[in-house]
Amino acid sequence: MITFTVNGETRQFDGDGDMPLLWYLRDLLTLTGTKFGCGKGLCGACTVHLNGQAIRSCSVPIGRMDGAEITTIEALGAGGDHPLQIAWAEQNVPQCGYCQSGQIMQAAALLAENPNPDDKQIDDAMSGVICRCGTYQRIRAAIKSAAGGQS
Ligand code: FES
Ligand code: FES
Repeated sequence: MITFTVNGETRQFDGDGDMPLLWYLRDLLTLTGTKFGCGKGLCGACTVHLNGQAIRSCSVPIGRMDGAEITTIEALGAGGDHPLQIAWAEQNVPQCGYCQSGQIMQAAALLAENPNPDDKQIDDAMSGVICRCGTYQRIRAAIKSAAGGQS
């Protein structure tokens, strides 16, 4: 039996420890804001926070979560009012939308570590989250807007 928190709620699990965290979040907790893309740690669609760090939940087994604090897009900002979520809406960032929860979770981890990133720091931090619709320019603008709003 392992114990951890998801979005501030204590959870326990004693099933197959090899199950990817993404499966647990989507299938057992129905937190479907986190998306399945490649399943191989390559696209970033499944990005969540593990103890404040952005991780690819498709590539981390639930069995390693004992004592962990996990945050998903559903809890990033109550009511969608995180500065990044507001900036995302203002900048009309999403196109199809599929990658966007991963983008926002990656960006939130960046701003938590570096509240005022420059273009290169944004590009470096965000490079692992793929957007097939090519919304990268608007993503960068939204991150800058949110960073300005936080300072
Ligand atoms: S689904 Fe996890 S990185 Fe692509
Ligand atoms: S908005 Fe379509 S994949 Fe990013």
